[in-house]
Amino acid sequence: TLPLALLTLAAYLIGSVPFAVVVSKAFGLSDPRSYGSGNPGATNVLRSGNKKAAVLTLLGDAAKGLIAVWVMRQFGSDADVAVALAGIAAFIGHVFPVFLGFKGGKGVATAIGVLAAFSGWLALACAITWLIVALTTRYSSLAALVAAIAAPVFAHVLLGAPAITGACLVMTAMLLWRHADNIKRLLAGTESRIGQKKRGSA
Ligand code: G3P
Repeated sequence: TLPLALLTLAAYLIGSVPFAVVVSKAFGLSDPRSYGSGNPGATNVLRSGNKKAAVLTLLGDAAKGLIAVWVMRQFGSDADVAVALAGIAAFIGHVFPVFLGFKGGKGVATAIGVLAAFSGWLALACAITWLIVALTTRYSSLAALVAAIAAPVFAHVLLGAPAITGACLVMTAMLLWRHADNIKRLLAGTESRIGQKKRGSA
């Protein structure tokens, strides 16, 4: 087995791969940091009008979380603390990617991948929560906020593993912080809805 520190670093590097930027480049689209919310994430790539690119961004960013935790389990340890550490590291990689000058995304898709690595049921519960809010309100950010708050609760109830619940709490705190502008826009009634193109860069 490899040292935990090395595998945590690997998880961070895996999380750092910015699929929104990579996929957009591959599709010949503008850099997602230059339009809409300016966020390098699937929701903002969707504002380019290219659904395929948005779905690939979502899948790629989620896969990072899954793979980072898988690598930890495979080559390091499957102890809860190690798994939790890898999950947090991948999430932090997405939010502060070394490949984008540490200016990354908000972490929703990567968090879902990390949750899926923790437990399929946990990810499913959060994904369903996200879907219900997204389908009823058409706000991607609000759906993420509600799902993020629910995640540690689901984790506690479904798994009851303190390290995993702790990792969820860390991701939730960071997700809320990363959505500060979205929260302001939601309160002001100016948040854009899914599929709606947003003017300027915020
Ligand atoms: O996944 C991020 C989403 O919750 C909000 O994205 O681009 O609307 O700020 P955006």
